[in-house]
Amino acid sequence: MEFQGIGTKFASASVDALAVAVFKDDKATDGVLKELDDITGGQVADTLKGKEINGGQGETALIRFSAKGVKATRLLLVGCGEKDKYKSSSVSVASGTAARCLRKLNLKSFAFDARIDGDAVETAQNAVQGVITSQFELDKYKTVDKNTKELTKFVVHVEGGKPADLKKGVERGQAIGDSMNFARELANEPPNVLHPTEMAKRAQAMAKEVGLKCEVLDEAKMEKLGMGSFLSVTKGSDQPAKMIVLRYTPAKNTGKKGDLIAFVGKGVTFDTGGISLKPGEGMDAMKYDMSGAATTIATMRAIALLKPTVPVIGVVGAVENMPDGKASRPSDVVTAMNGKTIEILNTDAEGRLVLADAVAYAEKQGATRIIDMATLTGAVIIALGGHNTGIMGNDQELVDQLVDCGKETGEGYWQLPLGTEYSKDIKSDIADIKNIGPRGKAGTIMGAVFIQEFVDKAKWAHLDIAGTAWHDGVRPHQAKGPTGVAVRTLLKFVEKAQ
Ligand code: BES
Ligand code: MN
Ligand code: ZN
Repeated sequence: MEFQGIGTKFASASVDALAVAVFKDDKATDGVLKELDDITGGQVADTLKGKEINGGQGETALIRFSAKGVKATRLLLVGCGEKDKYKSSSVSVASGTAARCLRKLNLKSFAFDARIDGDAVETAQNAVQGVITSQFELDKYKTVDKNTKELTKFVVHVEGGKPADLKKGVERGQAIGDSMNFARELANEPPNVLHPTEMAKRAQAMAKEVGLKCEVLDEAKMEKLGMGSFLSVTKGSDQPAKMIVLRYTPAKNTGKKGDLIAFVGKGVTFDTGGISLKPGEGMDAMKYDMSGAATTIATMRAIALLKPTVPVIGVVGAVENMPDGKASRPSDVVTAMNGKTIEILNTDAEGRLVLADAVAYAEKQGATRIIDMATLTGAVIIALGGHNTGIMGNDQELVDQLVDCGKETGEGYWQLPLGTEYSKDIKSDIADIKNIGPRGKAGTIMGAVFIQEFVDKAKWAHLDIAGTAWHDGVRPHQAKGPTGVAVRTLLKFVEKAQ
């Protein structure tokens, strides 16, 4: 798809359709709506008056028209809810809604005005990202009923925007949108295709393409490093586990001296539960158990393209959790890389076993701020549903910063508490710690306090994305399925650390 940013002459853009945001109780009396009302012979005012569209979030109304000097013959009104709740992060939802709607109508190109005051770079970026992420579909493996309609051109209009700013915004939007779709593509891959070796291959290919360093540790290497916790998860699988390490080094480092941000992802390519086998019903969903890894790899991709001036590493523990004669048993004791001993009481609490060695490895590489992402617990879905990612950490400032970055990018985070009283719940009778807490109690926190045991001096935050990495229904701006959650938040976080 071709992308372009323009600062004037919205209506005369060379496209099939125009699209514009409308709000609750909007009237076409001034500004761009008035301009569009004139071009369409009063149809905008009529449509709004007739309540064909009420300005509600996700609503759309199509107007057909023909005007002299205007190439477009369609105008799409895109409902964006109440004007005073409209934020820069709403722009991607609006542009994405327009893009899906117009694609369905087999139109090929459109220009969009978000009707937001503010930074042209940010508006263009969000509009372009929204269009790109709206086009993602789950149909890669379909041979029939595949989506064959395709948009070929998107123009974002920001009145008065400078060409250089618009160009920058468009490029940033492409980098971010494509990276989010890359994460979603990984999460959507079936587990017979995307096993740990394949995940490592895709990370390596991506790294080569965008200029990141990529190192893949095999089981022998991890054995040497003493990663007994991570390796315990792979024992029942025929697929060898991989630790994928991506490194971004800026040309010039403007960050705090010695600071190194690390993103760490849970990459369980399929989670059967192991010997603590999951029930068959719904087990297929566990292909998405590598969504934290997908976010990590995709965020590193975007970082390589956006080139922030701080160093970042990404560490992914890629492994398949299977039951067989060699698999870990409930009651096995293993030793992690940092020397702590773990009694495995439930082989289905495997994500934390992966992350234990992955966060310790990140810190050993020099990380001073570690953010891990994992589809770690079913409990977080019960607590927060699909609208907020659970966040916990050992440093309130870091947690606050991430929550704020989420607010700015339109991704919700909700903090749960940690503390020594919770940490006591994972003390084991025979080893240092056990990998589960008391049944039915604070399941999400139990996962976090476990991982915390493997962080030494670093500031650390844990994002439990089990509820937010996958969305079961289609939305006006987004296909059903993997969401690419947290990519935008983490990018914002890195850019603020510059
Ligand atoms: N990958 C799952 C978490 C999960 C469960 C995500 C259901 C989405 C839906 C994780 O490995 C897991 O199995 N967690 C257990 C932990 C328990 C055994 C302490 C869970 O949440 O049930
Ligand atoms: Mn599990
Ligand atoms: Zn899991």
